[in-house]
Amino acid sequence: MALLPILCFPDPKLHKVAQPVQTVDARVKTLIVDMLATMYDAKGIGLAATQVDVHERLIVIDVSEERDQPLVLINPEIVWTSAETHLNEEGCLSVPGIYDGVQRFNAITVRALDGEGNSRTVEAEDLLAVCIQHEMDHLLGKVFVEYLSPLKRDRIRKKMLKAQREDSR
Ligand code: NI
Repeated sequence: MALLPILCFPDPKLHKVAQPVQTVDARVKTLIVDMLATMYDAKGIGLAATQVDVHERLIVIDVSEERDQPLVLINPEIVWTSAETHLNEEGCLSVPGIYDGVQRFNAITVRALDGEGNSRTVEAEDLLAVCIQHEMDHLLGKVFVEYLSPLKRDRIRKKMLKAQREDSR
């Protein structure tokens, strides 16, 4: 098990589009273990492979209070969305300390492979639905701040760059 470094906005590598996972082999299973450990260590509720600089369609999630219900989605595809959307306050391990509202579907149905490579369908609502939508955006190279106004996004970019400069001193 290894903790993986998490890319921080505005790192351009966060905008790479992930490719499908070809086979759920030992390499992918190790990646899953490491991504879950990294997510729990960072106290996040979701992590996309993109965020650890692996550009393959794989996300891990755990929205449970007890942090004991890991969900692994490989090559996820949204097959249904609710008509209703709502504004949800979001944060991201790649944009530490920033929280803002994003419009998301209330409920979705996702088809994906699980950590063993078996096909499964997940019906998600509320926080889980929001989290899956947020993580799937990462696989498309999209960070949640890109939904905000250009002015806000630019302010966040400057703030992140300043924090990163101070960290590297
Ligand atoms: Ni995120």
